[in-house]
Amino acid sequence: MNHDLIRILKQANQCKMADILEKSAPADREKLEKQLSAINWDELPELIQDYVFHKPETAIPDDLQPAPFFPFPAKTPEQKKLYAEAEKKGKELLAQGKVAALTVAGGQGTRLGFDGPKGTYPITPVCHKSLFQYFAESLARASEKFNAPIHWFIMTSELNDKATRDFFKSHQYFGYGEEHITFFTQGTMPAIQYDGQLILAAKDSLALAPNGHGGTLLALRKSGSLDLMKKLGVEYLSYFQVDNPLVPVVDPLFIGLHCLEKSQMSCRMLPKTNPYEKLGNFCISRGHLQIIEYSDMPAELAERRKADGTLDFLAGSPAIHVISRDFIEQLTKDGRLNMPWHRADKKVAYLDEHGNTVKPEANNAVKLESFIFDALPLAEKTMVFEGSRAEMFAPTKNQTGVDSVESCRQMLVARDARRMELSGIKVPRKKDGTPDCLVEISPRCVFDDEDAVQFFHDNPVNPPVPGEAVSYGK
Ligand code: UTP
Repeated sequence: MNHDLIRILKQANQCKMADILEKSAPADREKLEKQLSAINWDELPELIQDYVFHKPETAIPDDLQPAPFFPFPAKTPEQKKLYAEAEKKGKELLAQGKVAALTVAGGQGTRLGFDGPKGTYPITPVCHKSLFQYFAESLARASEKFNAPIHWFIMTSELNDKATRDFFKSHQYFGYGEEHITFFTQGTMPAIQYDGQLILAAKDSLALAPNGHGGTLLALRKSGSLDLMKKLGVEYLSYFQVDNPLVPVVDPLFIGLHCLEKSQMSCRMLPKTNPYEKLGNFCISRGHLQIIEYSDMPAELAERRKADGTLDFLAGSPAIHVISRDFIEQLTKDGRLNMPWHRADKKVAYLDEHGNTVKPEANNAVKLESFIFDALPLAEKTMVFEGSRAEMFAPTKNQTGVDSVESCRQMLVARDARRMELSGIKVPRKKDGTPDCLVEISPRCVFDDEDAVQFFHDNPVNPPVPGEAVSYGK
């Protein structure tokens, strides 16, 4: 029995947990003690006060302004010239092996309601390839195209790490080469009941949750991934979320612009379709870029418009970034990183005092997460670059409706149909303009528009007929 731990728990007002630990069978105790020992007890009691007993409101700075951004496409001859240089630079950096991909896949994907890591979800409309397979194939084609291996870092959490690794192994890493993939695991935080007590998920385990995508930065340091990047000569990370298969896994123009602008952390932005679209808002305060979540944005700011009628706070975040290795090294050099926590109220299943699992009908606990974008105000130099929604953002959060499997598949089909038309192939369309067929082009063969034209030139196909479901390439 770890008496020190029991004392710490009691001091931190975790008397229920101290009692559970004292009474637990030795077989259950070991894992529980390990989990409890991993918690930062200097920090947790204060977090419970600040985030569980109170609902902290995000302070909105009084000098908040919309963040400036580079438009896309270029508007001026200077921008055209800059983008051409940036694209060239980005391709050079890729060819020099200075760019790695980073997929954050540690989330629990509760809204999707899928049993397994989200990345294993069969997303594509015709071949039902998983999200991980889709990214692996796209990275393989990009490595081929830019003539250098692109190392792929995948962040998992303790809750899905094994299942993720097993999935890759059982699919032979989708031909990407095990040596080019590094899995690393983010930290966890205990779920905290509204009475401030930690809870059990099983007799030998706390109810734990991943500590948010903000955990990426410290996890890169702690896992040795930063050292590996240095060893491989990687200077830039192309960061994207596991639930967005439309994202360009690496984007030479974006990477090059990040480099030429000497940015430490850069962001793609999408013009919001309405004031309340669920995208974080790019803002500037005291000279620093920051993102204010849609739920925290005061209505008068969200709705404010310019003289021409466009939203003043137009720039929304699709969570696509380029981050410099140097910046992450600097931020995490002491092995610590102070970023704010965000409270999420959740239904967390727990073991009651009779050993029965209770699945609550209403929220019963708080999960604490940090967000990657809270690193932005810590940077001296940042950059925001407009992107085209139809080419890069199809988040898969739910089964149906907004940001769903359904809408994601529609967007994948729309993008591939457009690429076919660009290659001179007629695609049947419905009255509303959407494709009247399901088409899927393999990302293993086609990375971008240029590839598509070449692919269909080399592999002529008959136009799809209305209602047909057809895939192209392996
Ligand atoms: P979301 O905020 O959509 O969360 O994550 P989620 O866990 O995937 O889904 P819900 O909210 O439970 O339905 C956005 C991205 O950040 C990653 C996710 O895997 C996803 O790629 N993420 C989120 C992490 O890697 N770790 C986390 O702790 C949270």
